Amino acid sequence: MDLLDLIKKRRSIKKFKQKPVERESLLNLIETACFSHSICNRQNIRYWVVQDPAKVDFVYQHSSLGWVIDGEDGLTDEKFAPPAYIAVTVPGSASHADYADAGAAFQNMALMSLQTQLGLFWIHAFSEEILKSFLNLPEEQTIIALIAVGHPAESPVAINIDPVDADKFFNLKDKAQKVPKLKTKYIVSWR
Ligand SMILES: Cc1cc2nc3c(=O)[nH]c(=O)nc-3n(C[C@H](O)[C@H](O)[C@H](O)COP(=O)(O)O)c2cc1C
Repeated sequence: MDLLDLIKKRRSIKKFKQKPVERESLLNLIETACFSHSICNRQNIRYWVVQDPAKVDFVYQHSSLGWVIDGEDGLTDEKFAPPAYIAVTVPGSASHADYADAGAAFQNMALMSLQTQLGLFWIHAFSEEILKSFLNLPEEQTIIALIAVGHPAESPVAINIDPVDADKFFNLKDKAQKVPKLKTKYIVSWR
């Protein structure tokens, strides 16, 4: 597939089939992260894969798949819960550069996931201290992101819109969510 088409096709996948992801496929994703750019090429980021169902469930209970701007329900439903997570860590407190490195690595993984028919998304909303302790991570590591990975159970598509349209769905001034609803005139008829 053409690179631009591939980039356009990448979407955050938040609904997953209840099917395990093979270790090889997860390794394959992380291998793409090895080749991403990194400040001073210091390659500080470490990836902690969680596949054991009991542990995956604990991570699910302590992270959020939320933030829905279209009002669609079911995104947090357990029947679509991710079958695997990757905790992304850096040593010490996270810097802007760490997040930049993580973003580049994530983009590689996200593009690779398309080739391997996987889906993933970045989770920023999680309980860092609880998960760090639960996963028994080294004291000096800080979790800066969770990546949920699995076989997609949805096929979101991106559409190009103008800024004026964006405001119809998400108010950028006060961050208020707007749920699109049909105007009455479109749903009522007089007989
Ligand atoms: C830094 C970062 C943090 C994010 N954190 C969350 C999160 O905590 N929960 C969530 O549901 N989505 C999270 N997302 C996913 C965004 O909601 C998603 O990227 C956005 O809706 C655009 O969709 P797209 O990735 O398909 O373009 C995060 C994305 C980024 C880049």
